[in-house]
Amino acid sequence: MPIIQSGLSRQYVLYRSLRGAPLSACRTFRARTGTRPFTVLGFESSADDTCAAVVTSSRQILSNVVVKQHSLHEEFGGIHPSVAIEAHQRNMPGAVRMALEQAHISIHDIDGIAFTRGPGIGGCLSVSSNAAKSLAAALNKPLVGVHHMQAHALTPLLTTPIADLPQFPFLTLLISGGHTLLLLASSLTSFRILATTADASIGRAFDKVARALGLSWGTRGPGAALEEFCRMNIEGPERLPDIQPFSVPMPGKLAFSFASLQSSVDRNISLMQEPLSTSHRIALARAFQTAAARQLCAKLTLALQKLELRDVKVRDVVVSGGVASNAFLRARLRETLDGYNPDERISLHFPPPELCTDTDNAAMIAWSSMHRFLAGDYDDYTVELRAKWSIENI
Ligand code: KG4
Ligand code: ZN
Repeated sequence: MPIIQSGLSRQYVLYRSLRGAPLSACRTFRARTGTRPFTVLGFESSADDTCAAVVTSSRQILSNVVVKQHSLHEEFGGIHPSVAIEAHQRNMPGAVRMALEQAHISIHDIDGIAFTRGPGIGGCLSVSSNAAKSLAAALNKPLVGVHHMQAHALTPLLTTPIADLPQFPFLTLLISGGHTLLLLASSLTSFRILATTADASIGRAFDKVARALGLSWGTRGPGAALEEFCRMNIEGPERLPDIQPFSVPMPGKLAFSFASLQSSVDRNISLMQEPLSTSHRIALARAFQTAAARQLCAKLTLALQKLELRDVKVRDVVVSGGVASNAFLRARLRETLDGYNPDERISLHFPPPELCTDTDNAAMIAWSSMHRFLAGDYDDYTVELRAKWSIENI
């Protein structure tokens, strides 16, 4: 590969892609200048996934290693900080080695090193931070600390085909085991949290309801098992029992609540005769999934209405996180956007399946550092973590 040319050339390649220029334009430019893309090694360990990835300024994910710890925390009913820290320490060296091997590059081909600076669990963040800073200092490479939620919000600019790139301002609906969040992205660095959950995340609610209904999920996970269970049909003359639809919590308010929905399911179960019949279980699963979808659609509509009142026109909505792989939710969201304004279609984007399920990953961290590397805006090797850090304050 030809050597790197000036920062300006590299910037041009990236910004052209971000603005939605046809890929051919970027290619022509690169061929003409002989530029090779800027290559970043990213680290992420803010919660319970140990991640390392190599990403280039021409939107190539050369590797994306995610070492999950889920099984270690299951018995605690949430992330146990010291267990997570130990596992990150154990797994990070192997993850970095694998990320370089899978990218087929040496550490000397890396142009910059990025890590999650916050928010997250302090001890967990420090594993990535120490690894990234030490490596950057030893190799004399530039370093950038990234905001974890900014990285989630900018992921579609990495994964969406160039022709369909979301245009600022766009909405990001992040629905996973760790987050239930509606964000407005106005530029690479300016974001507003429009809604977050007042209690549990949507993913945890799917997991708990799947457990309460006694589903078995094998390797596909409880949320996916619940979705599949909802598709089951009862054979024979038996009818599904009627279940009063669960209401949308906090109507008119831009906030989610999934603990209340989960409690409604628990209450229903406690009122039914044990053991629950299969038809009862299917009816409850469907009532839950329908209510979860209605809540997302209602809050999304409310956000669009409120933004319109402030003259903010959104043309793209990006949905990501493990729960975004749910086909029922996807269909309801599409219907909602089609119904919102039939004359001006709002595009709905989903990341590719591998990034939907590996919601937390280092590819997004590496990618979100790119505009700063290309602008020559680096962090000092002494940069400090920010375990608490609002995305509105980047
Ligand atoms: O983003 P993710 O893979 O990881 C973390 O947040 O850690 O999200 C995992 C969550 C779990 O709660 C899982 O049950 C849920 O996403 N999930 C689903 C589906 N697939 C995964 N929930 C509903 N329907 C699905 N098809
Ligand atoms: Zn995350």
